[in-house]
Amino acid sequence: MQSVAPVGEDRAYLEFVLGLKQYFAGEVYPRLRQQYDARVAESGTPTPADARAGGTEVGELPTEPRSAGAIVEDLPAYPLFQWLERNTQKMMWRRLEAMIRPRAAELDAQLESTPAEPLGSLMLDPNLPLPDYYAQTEFHIQPGGVWSSAANAFVYEVGAKVVMMGQNDDYRFHRLFVEKAIPHQDYRAILDLGCGFGKSTRPFADAFPEASVVGIDLSAPNLKLAHQQAERLGKRISFYQRAAEATGFPDASFDLVTATMLIHEMPMPVLRRVLGEALRILRPGGVLAVEQAEMLPFDERSGGVRADGTWPERAEWHFPWVVIRAWKVA
Ligand SMILES: C[S@@+](CC[C@H](N)C(=O)[O-])C[C@H]1O[C@@H](n2cnc3c(N)ncnc32)[C@H](O)[C@@H]1O
Repeated sequence: MQSVAPVGEDRAYLEFVLGLKQYFAGEVYPRLRQQYDARVAESGTPTPADARAGGTEVGELPTEPRSAGAIVEDLPAYPLFQWLERNTQKMMWRRLEAMIRPRAAELDAQLESTPAEPLGSLMLDPNLPLPDYYAQTEFHIQPGGVWSSAANAFVYEVGAKVVMMGQNDDYRFHRLFVEKAIPHQDYRAILDLGCGFGKSTRPFADAFPEASVVGIDLSAPNLKLAHQQAERLGKRISFYQRAAEATGFPDASFDLVTATMLIHEMPMPVLRRVLGEALRILRPGGVLAVEQAEMLPFDERSGGVRADGTWPERAEWHFPWVVIRAWKVA
């Protein structure tokens, strides 16, 4: 389900942007990768392909993003690679803004209308201070972020599909995350941190119908959209406008705390606070304990969690997802 569907020229334009993104991932990235391997080989250090084959010491490869970055930035394919990476995002947001912004008043009113007898709930906090790192950064270069107007939530909803290169139109990623990466047991209360417009939260309500499912986010427009869509789809979810680093929930009140596509947006000190907060609100035995942490490669195109512990070998660029799973010591 999607609230605003691009039609006509908007649809054609966005499909063109999607095509450019696929060209970036499927054609330009492999070329860059080959050039990187060749450059590293020329300089006498083993190529990544050698290292993956186990024949050479991995330690001799650049291990720091900065030293690998210095090599990458000097490669002939890099200017096109980085131009496409940035400008396809800009093209996408600009078009979505132009398509959705004129409908802002109508969409705003739409978000204000709630069902008379909702299954779940929505608790907004207009006084919640937005942290600087959040309010002053346009994540994914989305103009105005995802929080400053109702239109932002709708722009983000359509944009998220293009960013996932048309491979998550049915939210398969999020269903597989719940099916394959989450231990299946009896949960009483589940919390989704940074739930956005609820695409990451809804599969928990489906998979664990006995549990109380809660989503929190800083963005009021996202939460309104999340609530509306959950109600429309008959999912019982409670949404709150709260920060992941200070949720305000009592100690030991959840037995599963989860987050998808959130922590990459956080500065490290904030991430530490979020993990500490998750630990506080988890019940003993619930999910989080750093000494028992597992890091699981995840690839939605090949079944979700990768049983062999590796990402698939592939030429094209793709998000290198990792699932971090941990248990709070009982
Ligand atoms: C990329 S979206 C991911 C949304 C959702 N989890 C999903 O997978 O579709 C990140 C979300 O996290 C929210 N967010 C960012 N920092 C947050 C924080 N400190 N506390 C709560 N929500 C936060 C943003 O408003 C945004 O809705």
